[in-house]
Amino acid sequence: MSPRIRKAVFPVAGLGTRFLPATKTVPKEMLPIIDRPLIQYAVDEAIEAGCDTLVFVTNRYKHAVADYFDKAYELEQKLERAGKQEQLELVRNVLPKGVRAVFVTQAEALGLGHAVLCAKPVIGDEPFAVILPDDLIWNHGDGALKQMADAAEATGASMIAVQDVPREATGSYGIVATESFDKRQGRISAIVEKPRSEDAPSTLAVVGRYVLNPRIFHWLETTAPGAGGEIQLTDAIAALLKEEAVNAFRFQGTRFDCGTHLGLIEATIRYALDHEKLSDAAQRLMQDALKELGVTELE
Ligand code: G1P
Repeated sequence: MSPRIRKAVFPVAGLGTRFLPATKTVPKEMLPIIDRPLIQYAVDEAIEAGCDTLVFVTNRYKHAVADYFDKAYELEQKLERAGKQEQLELVRNVLPKGVRAVFVTQAEALGLGHAVLCAKPVIGDEPFAVILPDDLIWNHGDGALKQMADAAEATGASMIAVQDVPREATGSYGIVATESFDKRQGRISAIVEKPRSEDAPSTLAVVGRYVLNPRIFHWLETTAPGAGGEIQLTDAIAALLKEEAVNAFRFQGTRFDCGTHLGLIEATIRYALDHEKLSDAAQRLMQDALKELGVTELE
C-alpha cells in the first residue's frame, strides 16, 4: 500500500500554436467540448480520483485559466437574484468546496519535465498525479486517473497511462517497452521520447496521465535537456525506472487527442452523441450534414 494521491499537476503553459488564431487570446486548455473547457474535464477527473489540491503550471500570459477558477462574485450574485439555480451551481462547481487551486509560473518554456519540476514546492514528498488536459479521456465508468490512483495505491509503483498506437505514429509519443502484462499493468523496462517508427521498442504509447512517486523530482533536477533542448519528463522516468518500479497502465476509456484539430472534432462529436439532452438532435444534424454534402456511403 502507498499513500493515496491528493495533488494533481496540470501543465498549461504551452502556446497552443496549432489552434491559432483562436489561441492568440484563448489558451488551448480553455477550448470547449460542448460547454465545458478542456481544463474542466481534466480537473473533474482529478477530483474524482481523490485530489483536493490542483497545481496549475502556467505562464504570465495565461490569465484566463486562473480567472476561470477564481470566484465570480458578480456573476454568482446576478444568477442568484435571477433565480437561475442550475446555472449558479454550474459556475460554483467549477471548483467544488474543499478543493484548492494553486498557480505556479513556469518562467521559461523548457519542456514538460521542467513544468512538472516547477510544481515541486507544492507537491513536497508524496505521490502525485500529472494530467495533460489535451488528452481527454471519455469513459462511462471510473475516470482514467481514478483507475490509476487505485492501482498505484495498491502497488506503490508509479503508474503511466498507455495505449496502442499505429507504428507510424510513434514519433508523436513517449513509447514504452514492458515486461509481461498482468491484467491492466505491466512493469516498464524502457521508455523513449518520440522515437522514429523503425527505432520504437513497441507501439505502446504514453497518454497524458501519470501517477508519480516524488523521487521523480530528483531525476528532473539532474536530467540533462533531451529531445528539442527541453527537459523531458520521459527522460526522468527512464532514470526512475532503473531504481524503482514504474508500471504502464492500460486504462479503460477512449482518449481524444484534443491538441489536434481532428481530435477536438472527434471529442465534440462523441460528447454530443453521448449528451443526455443533445444526443438525438446532434445525430440528426450529423446525418443531415452528410446528406447535404452528398456523402451517402461511409467506409
Ligand atoms: C507529451 C509527452 C509524451 C506523451 C504525450 C501524450 O508529449 O512528452 O511522452 O506521449 O505528451 O499526449 P507532447 O504531446 O506534449 O509533445
